[in-house]
Amino acid sequence: MPTDGLYPFQWSWDSAITALGWLEFDEERAWQEADVMFSGQWDNGMLPHILFHGDAESYFPGPDVWGSNTAVPSSAISQPPVWATAIRRMFETGKDRSLAESALERLLPKLIDYHDWWYRERDPDETGLVCSYHPWESGMDNSPAWDDALARVPEVDWEYQRRDLGHVDSEQRPHKPQYDRYLYLVDFYKKNGFDSDAIYKGCPYRVIDIGIVAILHRAGRDLVELCRLAGESAAIPSIESELARTQASIGTLWSKENRCFLNHDIVTGEPIEEVTTATVLPLFAGLANQSQSAYMADLIDEWLDATAFALSSTHPSSERFESQRYWRGPVWLHINWMIAEGLYDYGYDDLAERVKQATHKCVDKSGFYEYFDAMSGAGCGGGQFSWTAAVALYWLA
Ligand code: DGY
Repeated sequence: MPTDGLYPFQWSWDSAITALGWLEFDEERAWQEADVMFSGQWDNGMLPHILFHGDAESYFPGPDVWGSNTAVPSSAISQPPVWATAIRRMFETGKDRSLAESALERLLPKLIDYHDWWYRERDPDETGLVCSYHPWESGMDNSPAWDDALARVPEVDWEYQRRDLGHVDSEQRPHKPQYDRYLYLVDFYKKNGFDSDAIYKGCPYRVIDIGIVAILHRAGRDLVELCRLAGESAAIPSIESELARTQASIGTLWSKENRCFLNHDIVTGEPIEEVTTATVLPLFAGLANQSQSAYMADLIDEWLDATAFALSSTHPSSERFESQRYWRGPVWLHINWMIAEGLYDYGYDDLAERVKQATHKCVDKSGFYEYFDAMSGAGCGGGQFSWTAAVALYWLA
């Protein structure tokens, strides 16, 4: 679980990052993280963003609200698909080879199904840019990037009691109008019987999330490599053609003026003009060309100095920036790690090191919190947080 109380179940991208931390001192436990997560994969290949491995009063909305009735109770949306990237790292660096080889044999077909699901269900028109139906799917729940798209979603018409505010200061969490709409969307999937076609055509919230697109692309490249390592070459051509489609269309999201890629609102057909840490993740994916990478490096270079603790999840020049409110400003370690990885890949080693030092500074100041106030460095959200500790073990140490 990400942290006791606030998030008492298994979240998909938390789990993948956390596995990298386990790998440093307990490889069996690291692989178990993946096995248990994939035990909740849906028959259609979808990997839910939450698996509810038990009852917990401390979290809302639980499986009854989602209503998906799966063998392992779960939510009905996914999350940034970082698993193939994590599993490639685990496979390549794990010392226990027989453990790694048997795990890859079990997990590879599931990863292939999961990636297939993204392209089949979330990009049926083969545009190369998968779509997302919920801010929770982005993992960056209340990012200002989603404000306008979410504002058009109706509010849920039933009363509910949030549990997050019993654990965390309300100044660090999303507002109620956002929750009203998060829950409307949860109802919408249930009312549509989780029918992909109906949701694709009718969901009032549909965005191209550049974070998901980039993480999926990076993971797809890692999946090709895993297939090679496992001698499963038959799966490679279709993954490669999906990668090629994204590579061919990513340019439509580029904004030279903003020096980054932008999210896109499918319902209005408009780009979303908010610079967030997701908008430079195409570096992590290898999706940027040399000139685009230089613009993003410039942006990151200035961004590092724009707040006392960096990188702020929303650029501080945004009028919607809030230094301690969840995804509206605070610093998140795993995102810094992905951005630094991308910078190393493009040869910006000094800049990547600066991102690493900035990340270290947060932990040095406040310990292993969920996220950090971009102005004061104070720890925010859940304390004793799994993926923060994992990134510290895996990357900072
Ligand atoms: C929450 O409940 O805050 C989570 O981010 C949803 O996944």
